[in-house]
Amino acid sequence: MTHNTFNSALVLGASGGLGSALVTHFLSDSAITCVFAVSSQEQSAAILVPPNLASKLVWIKTEYDEQSMAEVADQLQSYAGSFGRVCICHGLLHSETIWPEKRLEDINAEALHEIFQSNTVVPVLWLKLLFKVLKGKTPCIVATLSARVGSIGDNHMGGWHSYRASKAALNMVLKNMAIEYARRAKNVKLIAFHPGTTDTSLSKPFQASVPSGKLFSPAFVASQLSQIMASAELDGVLSYLDWNGQPITW
Ligand SMILES: NC(=O)c1ccc[n+]([C@@H]2O[C@H](COP(=O)([O-])OP(=O)(O)OC[C@H]3O[C@@H](n4cnc5c(N)ncnc54)[C@H](OP(=O)(O)O)[C@@H]3O)[C@@H](O)[C@H]2O)c1
Repeated sequence: MTHNTFNSALVLGASGGLGSALVTHFLSDSAITCVFAVSSQEQSAAILVPPNLASKLVWIKTEYDEQSMAEVADQLQSYAGSFGRVCICHGLLHSETIWPEKRLEDINAEALHEIFQSNTVVPVLWLKLLFKVLKGKTPCIVATLSARVGSIGDNHMGGWHSYRASKAALNMVLKNMAIEYARRAKNVKLIAFHPGTTDTSLSKPFQASVPSGKLFSPAFVASQLSQIMASAELDGVLSYLDWNGQPITW
């Protein structure tokens, strides 16, 4: 199948709450010609694709080892230079065996590795492997899902050691990469994005303490991020922004 790809969107980690909302959002955006969704899962039934838009979505299933990810980047190389929007949505806060640490004694090496793998290693590998796919003439805005708790300056409560550290590490590598992308691919702008507390499986166990009106729907956040990306400038620096487009202290 051939695709009209001159202004495409790429969503990596497309089966999550925010990833699938972004896929749905970009499918309904007539300025976006094609949506590439990359996930470890089969295409989710949660992503409702109107029949007239079915040919606009390309679903790519992968594992998150570097070899498999490199194969995805090779596959996308035929569409190099056509991506205007890229969202990297990977993240892990808890699982059946992992719970955010409340105190020093909760820190566990295996959990630290797993949290860093999904929050830091996988997003950073995408930005390495996709360099040639994103470089080109099309202005390309790349939003990587970070979190406010990754801010060192804003950390007054402590706790959640591995999640906080993995997002702070992500922010630092993104900062480095923005400097290198500015030199080698001036059409690319990087954003570290905090969605606010959003109603997904990641936040589910912590939603009871969220003040009323402060738990966002994934569709609302996808729309906010899309607007932020539309107004972003190719200024060669990493922006660290919240769902309202407000800068977050590093
Ligand atoms: N929800 C919130 O309140 C909130 C707040 C602040 C920041 N964030 C951040 O927003 C991003 C999206 O989170 P979400 O709320 O949409 O969570 P979610 O529904 O749990 O989605 C998790 C995402 O992470 C990917 N993922 C899970 N385990 C992974 C692993 N081991 N290796 C690589 N990727 C893995 C999944 O990709 P597949 O498509 O392959 O399944 C999926 O895209 C995360 O970076 C999260 O930290 C969320």
